[in-house]
Amino acid sequence: MKRRDMLTGSAAGALPSLRGVHPDLLRPAVEELHRWYLQQARVLPWRATRDAYAIWISEVMLQQTQVRTVVPYYERWLAALPTVRALAAADEVEVLRLWEGLGYYSRARNLHRAARELVVRFDGSFPRDPDQLRTLPGIGPYTVAAVASLAFGAPLAVVDANVRRVLSRLLALEEDPRRAPVARRLEALAHELLADHDPSRHNQAMMELGALVCLPRTPRCELCPLLSVCAAAATGEPSRFPPTRPTKAVPHQAFAVALVRDRERLLLEQRPSGGLLAGLWDLPGYALALGEEPPGRLAQTLRELYGLQVEVEESLPPVKHAYSHLKVTLHAFRCRLLGRSSRAAESVATRIWVRPEELGQRAMPRACHKVLEGAGLGPPRGQVA
Ligand code: ADE
Repeated sequence: MKRRDMLTGSAAGALPSLRGVHPDLLRPAVEELHRWYLQQARVLPWRATRDAYAIWISEVMLQQTQVRTVVPYYERWLAALPTVRALAAADEVEVLRLWEGLGYYSRARNLHRAARELVVRFDGSFPRDPDQLRTLPGIGPYTVAAVASLAFGAPLAVVDANVRRVLSRLLALEEDPRRAPVARRLEALAHELLADHDPSRHNQAMMELGALVCLPRTPRCELCPLLSVCAAAATGEPSRFPPTRPTKAVPHQAFAVALVRDRERLLLEQRPSGGLLAGLWDLPGYALALGEEPPGRLAQTLRELYGLQVEVEESLPPVKHAYSHLKVTLHAFRCRLLGRSSRAAESVATRIWVRPEELGQRAMPRACHKVLEGAGLGPPRGQVA
């Protein structure tokens, strides 16, 4: 039988199915994987602990963000907020400041809310029961499996994007692994592979294999401890698996933004509490219509929405930034404040005038930091990439 058929028990050409997979066939390869992990794994700070809080923080940071970006954030966070109680007692400004630059800010808010619930409902410690973990804000099946297995040794398989790729290749899966029925099959295979192995070691090993060897475009099969049971490798074209979806074009939006200064202080506005970059402090401005040249209606916008009369003085180099779902270009202008009306900016709680040395205390979108840096106003921010 071909490797794929041995794994799946299916006839050549049929869709891979888990029916007929014999765990004994996989066991020696999985043990090889664990040996490989012990020898080759990266030294990462969250691997040196069994503290559920620290593991939880690392896992939430690692969702959508690469390991090398996460490490300094993780270390800074744990130094500032070493326990559930410290996080629960922190104010949101501090939490967002520590998160700033990682994106997806709802994750930081959920961490904060969940810590408060852990204090109230579980006396500040993590419940070991996965069903109770699941009731906390922002903790879905992935995070439950990761925290419960890595911290408490619960026999739950962790299936992130890297693991999904490894599993898809073991089966030489022709289907999109994110489709629900396919994802369920992969979850089931993940649990078969976990069997009665040490859940922490096994899950870390699977993730590490996806991160270091079973790479999306150029898998390093010659180094792979699962090579002997990998159906994709047997085809000679492992990178064909899993099939990739065509990437969607990311929309682009241009903005005109103002650096309005009153003596030394700069005007900032807090973004609404929902949506993209929720709650972060932003430069005032507006979205340019297609083809509209900046500064466009910037002075008019500041008059109508902020009650400020300004003269647009100087344009700064445009700043481009790509968020996950949106590319932006910020056309920034220094503006001279000429006067203000009764609807002056201070009268609204979400608008503040900030001294340059205080800018570092406000969580801001990365694109705004770039503008401020270009204007010579960037606060010293050595700790954040
Ligand atoms: N990605 C998600 N969780 C991870 C972990 N614990 N180690 C390395 N990469 C990861």
